[in-house]
Amino acid sequence: MTASDLPFPPPKLGEPYLLTPGPLTTSYEVKEAMLRDWGSWDGDFRAMTRDVRNRLLAMLGDGAEAYDCVPVQGSGSYAVEAMLGTFVPRNGKVLVLANGAYGLRAATTMQYLGRDYHLLDKGDYLPPRGAEVTQILADDPAITHVLAIHCETSSGILNPVDEISTATYAAGRKLLIDSMSAFGAIPLEPSEIRYEAMVSSANKCIEGVPGFGFVIARKSALEAAQGNSHSLSLDIYAQWAAMEKTGQWRFTPPTHVVAAFLEALKLHEAEGGVAARGARYLRNRDVVVAGMRDLGFETLLDSRWLSPIIVTFFCPDDPAFVFDRFYALMKEKGFIIYPGKLTVVDSFRIGCIGRMDEHVMRRVVDAARDALADMGVVSAAPPARALEERKKLAA
Ligand SMILES: Cc1ncc(COP(=O)(O)O)c(C=O)c1O
Repeated sequence: MTASDLPFPPPKLGEPYLLTPGPLTTSYEVKEAMLRDWGSWDGDFRAMTRDVRNRLLAMLGDGAEAYDCVPVQGSGSYAVEAMLGTFVPRNGKVLVLANGAYGLRAATTMQYLGRDYHLLDKGDYLPPRGAEVTQILADDPAITHVLAIHCETSSGILNPVDEISTATYAAGRKLLIDSMSAFGAIPLEPSEIRYEAMVSSANKCIEGVPGFGFVIARKSALEAAQGNSHSLSLDIYAQWAAMEKTGQWRFTPPTHVVAAFLEALKLHEAEGGVAARGARYLRNRDVVVAGMRDLGFETLLDSRWLSPIIVTFFCPDDPAFVFDRFYALMKEKGFIIYPGKLTVVDSFRIGCIGRMDEHVMRRVVDAARDALADMGVVSAAPPARALEERKKLAA
């Protein structure tokens, strides 16, 4: 068997694997789908858009009939802004649950929108819990919506959206979910978790290339959202209404990205859908975490909170460890890793998503071992204060 016969052959042009949470390593078929041009008004492209929307909806599972899918041009942040601006009425108020960069970005988005919000900031990674949501909602009747981050990609924590949803609806409020880095690998079935709308993008767990995001929202919420948006181009109601009427995107669509995404959706289905994609990422994570722990590295989170999307490791305390050098050595060995986003201790991240499997992850661990040796690092153990920090989560 040659490398190109493997179920996940290495990047054909020999570029490094992207161990980053999107853009990520995509299949050759996905990239190849971008070789032909499509007319944005043409029936063939409209059929592709319809197919993309239907396939994304089908991915929701039980309860999908009550929802519709609205793609929107731009990166994930554009789609988050579009969701907030469209579903939160101008006189609404959002409880933003933050435990990392993306929750904080949602709060900044609310500032730009000029709409009221209450920020629960749990710091770098501590998860917002259902009981806290219950308390804040009881104290502030003006709050209409809660925004939760599904996987907070800045630490890799999988937030407890189920208990957040239960607390939100028990208080008669509505939940919006940023499932950017989780959707497609971690179930978000409406029959299991109640929510009004969620958002994700093309270049995450469905393994497409960057260029658009999508909002999946209850049809009743879409119908009620007319006139809420602050923005012409980010109005999900208007985009939905136009797509339903004409089958077209309102403004120039990223045609090649859509063609690539359709191919990615077909590969997702062929692999076995959300369950199989999630299982592959979980194996990737388990292999990389076990291997890195064997080398002496420690994860920020204990196993209960680790997502199968991306893992934060503490930087070793050994003075011979220099992150920039480690990064360069890993790249030389074929892997692009990700700097950490913690504010209290030094860290780096390794993504588990993208077109790769556990065999690749074993090579990642080998590369890390060799990189440590190249740098003359004797121990990969983190400083004591990193382990003290970790205890906060257990407390
Ligand atoms: C949870 C989450 N929200 C929002 C974003 C922002 O997406 P983008 O960087 O594509 O604008 C990201 C990006 O990784 C993310 O992981």
